[in-house]
Amino acid sequence: MKYSIAIDGPAGAGKSTVAKIAAKRLGIPYLDTGAMYRAAAVACKQNAVDVKDWDAVRAFLPFMNIEVRYLPTGEQRMISDGEDITHLLRTEEISQGASLVSMIPEVRDYLVELQRKVAHAQAVIMDGRDICTNVLSDTPHKFFITASAEERARRRVKQLVEQGQPADYETILNDIIRRDKQDSEREYMPLVCKEDTIKIDTTELTIDEVVDALLREVRE
Ligand code: DC
Repeated sequence: MKYSIAIDGPAGAGKSTVAKIAAKRLGIPYLDTGAMYRAAAVACKQNAVDVKDWDAVRAFLPFMNIEVRYLPTGEQRMISDGEDITHLLRTEEISQGASLVSMIPEVRDYLVELQRKVAHAQAVIMDGRDICTNVLSDTPHKFFITASAEERARRRVKQLVEQGQPADYETILNDIIRRDKQDSEREYMPLVCKEDTIKIDTTELTIDEVVDALLREVRE
């Protein structure tokens, strides 16, 4: 694999599921960059730094120490200040915190540098919001994976119900709409789909169909 694969798209569109399967099939590492913004939000929370207070986050940034580690199985773990915080990343509070902290240019610059280091050594598959437009803008393999907000909310409800957790469709839909707006309307490196990027709408597709479509394009 000569070139890396870049995937962008809104929250809950299935990017990471597709990227993980494609990475296995291609035998290359997968980097979930959303997990890095989530780790930054957790680090702020643990140090009582308000993610809405940009100056406070900027003052904390020199002390932020985020690392990506891979288990032998290929699973990505997020480390903050030496502590594995992966189990803390997937709450609604941290989803919202990550979206807020990702608006701050200095936070983005810090994490993008880490992302580029991972991609420097070898071809990778990476997903996020600014991967096609910024982090891996040189790669010819660029994808935008999306689905309607309603479908993404339905999938999230199903996932939570399967985990035995409470799930309210309206609340989840509103969270998704708010996060989409924040991620695509922020000033610095917003989520956008440019003309050089292949858009895949997954609303009516299965995961396998999306993976097949992506790999077909890459192989061509
Ligand atoms: O993909 P995710 O839901 O785990 O991402 C969490 C938040 O991080 C998302 O709301 C926006 C931000 N993010 C970003 O700004 N840029 C990225 N490359 C990845 C995520």
